[in-house]
Amino acid sequence: MIKFINNYLKIDSKNNSLIIAKHDNRSELVYYGKKLADHSDYSYFSSGCKDKCFASNCDHTNIRSVIASNGECAQKSSSVGVVKNGIFSNRFEYVSANIVDGFYSPLPNARNKGQTVCLEYVDVISKATLKQYFTVFDDCDVIATHTEVINTCECPITVNKLMSLQLDFIALEAKISTFDGTWTNERTRHNTHLTGGRFEISSALGITSAEHNPFMIVEINGGVMGFNLVWSGNHKEVVEISPYGRVRVQTGMNDYQLNYELKPGEKLVAPEAVMVYAKEEKTVTNQMHKFILNHIINPNFAYKDRPVLINNWEGTYFDFTGDKIYEIAEKAASCGIEMLVLDDGWFGVRNSDDCSLGDWVDNVEKTGGLKNLADRIKSLGMKFGLWVEPEMISPKSDIFEAHPEYAQAIPGVEPIERRWQLCMDLCNPEVLEYLSDVLIKLFKETGVDYVKWDHNRSMSDVYSKCLDNQGKYFYNYYVNQYELLKRITEACPNVLFESCSSGGCRFDMGIQYFMPQCWGSDNTNAFDRLFIQEGTLVGYPQSTMGAHVAAANTLPNINIESRFNIAAVGAFGYEFDITKSTDSELDIIKKQVSYYKEHRKLLQYGNYIRLGSIFDSDLTGWMLVSDDKCEAMAVVVDKTENGRFKYQRFSFAGLEETALYKVSMRPQANVDGIFEFTAYGDALMNGGLDFYSMVNCEIKEKEESGRFASRMFHIKKIN
Ligand code: GLA
Repeated sequence: MIKFINNYLKIDSKNNSLIIAKHDNRSELVYYGKKLADHSDYSYFSSGCKDKCFASNCDHTNIRSVIASNGECAQKSSSVGVVKNGIFSNRFEYVSANIVDGFYSPLPNARNKGQTVCLEYVDVISKATLKQYFTVFDDCDVIATHTEVINTCECPITVNKLMSLQLDFIALEAKISTFDGTWTNERTRHNTHLTGGRFEISSALGITSAEHNPFMIVEINGGVMGFNLVWSGNHKEVVEISPYGRVRVQTGMNDYQLNYELKPGEKLVAPEAVMVYAKEEKTVTNQMHKFILNHIINPNFAYKDRPVLINNWEGTYFDFTGDKIYEIAEKAASCGIEMLVLDDGWFGVRNSDDCSLGDWVDNVEKTGGLKNLADRIKSLGMKFGLWVEPEMISPKSDIFEAHPEYAQAIPGVEPIERRWQLCMDLCNPEVLEYLSDVLIKLFKETGVDYVKWDHNRSMSDVYSKCLDNQGKYFYNYYVNQYELLKRITEACPNVLFESCSSGGCRFDMGIQYFMPQCWGSDNTNAFDRLFIQEGTLVGYPQSTMGAHVAAANTLPNINIESRFNIAAVGAFGYEFDITKSTDSELDIIKKQVSYYKEHRKLLQYGNYIRLGSIFDSDLTGWMLVSDDKCEAMAVVVDKTENGRFKYQRFSFAGLEETALYKVSMRPQANVDGIFEFTAYGDALMNGGLDFYSMVNCEIKEKEESGRFASRMFHIKKIN
């Protein structure tokens, strides 16, 4: 609910309040935290609002703000910069605040909005207008916000900075968690205790990147806040502490190479940012998950069963024929697997990764005809999925020969190749038309049920012959990329899309708006996945994270039962050559798939609660609990050298204290016996269970090189 109370704008979500004071020409952030009752006055929160200040360097008159103009005699980062006639300084002054029906944005933004308020500011120097929107939702505590600059001047202006969210707090320290990494090590958690100066993460790679995910947690004065962006391009998150005892948090698109010219009447709309406040991180996680499922994911797929798939990539790489793929599908179908995904190598002359991207024509000689292969696979009762990498072009391709100008490249300069490929220039409308025509035709004619949409290199040499100013490139790229995804997903409403970017290098809410799943990482080693998955699930729901059981040729050698326990917390599948599996392995897979399907609703959509943390303990785990707490799944993992839950205790979480539950361990091929017991919720959550003695079953084979063990449990309320 959004209300105006005297001079205050009170933006209430279910349990949080954000209160902004409206002064004559300034807006002041006076409160963000637990929901407050409606009072007529909040002036006791105010830091004062002095336009003139006696101090020479005044940390902008000490008021806490939700926007900050460039060049306002302040040390901390500004949130908006507009240049007119060579003047870089701005002074955006508050004009009005009104409840509005919504807003226009060329970028994806939250669906099913509740109320929205728009604050308007005018720059007394350039006369440009800044609008700032705040939206609340009926069902969760997330508040969404973004800004836009409108050229209300008589001549062109240039925007060189436009952050989406800014919050100021009175504090001298902040604890920050970010989810950073590399290719094959995405979204691993890093904690920073900031007591002064400026902390910044960003991407300038043209994708959100593995290096720094835009999701960030900041703890200030005992309150835990989560921040994220509905955006897939360059981004920037800042936490800054001034010696005057102010902490500023900002998030938005990166101003790297941003020089966005606006003619009179034109506007630039920043990506939508989201924030949530709670007393505990687990509530931030829960609210972010709810928000993504209810307001970001395509409603055709949110809460829908995600199929158990088999992907041929790690099984065959480029070395396959249509018959080989069919054999894989046949074996997989006999184990109950529901979909075959044909990965890279089915098109053009692509038998290695140095050619054919952009030639989206099937290699009939190799596949026996794509449509024919899809039909054969469907005749097994399976769905058919296909890999594409539309935003790329290989210099060795027919399309490049015909249209070299489709590639991102600066005229007269040899562009940098990565994985022997270049990015398509999506700022060129012809590229958008080409890709939407060719892909819609391909998906429809083949009858695909699923698409894995890859993006395997970061951007360099950004240039489009279609732009008069290359400072628009990174923004306009995504305007058109999202338009492409909109056209394709609307033309193929029943196709499930999974985003991939060299694994998980573009894992964000902007892409999830169109693609309900993102491949978590090219690293399918179950041990490493524990870190990647724990980091990912702090901010993103498990149904959005692709996770597969892969071949066992990684270290440590983790048993297929544990590989299952770990992958089964995501959009689940297998990724190896199943035609090489022995009968006993096939039997294990069959049982796993059937168990997964039986508990799929909870595994994919149960409320995720972390037990312990792989980052700081040997024993870790997670639970997936139904809304009514009547049923839950749990996974417990012990990674100690000598393993077997040795002397380790842990408790379940998220259950009803007074309810009686039956706990059943999933039967594992490497463990003898069936383990079941009943206990009350309070005991399960507080007792500290000794799993080694409690499980009380012999381990048949030496488990996972003696250094790794895991169990999955089903927990059901019986009274
Ligand atoms: C990327 C993806 C992989 C696979 C290959 C195919 O690396 O992350 O899963 O699809 O491309 O080339």
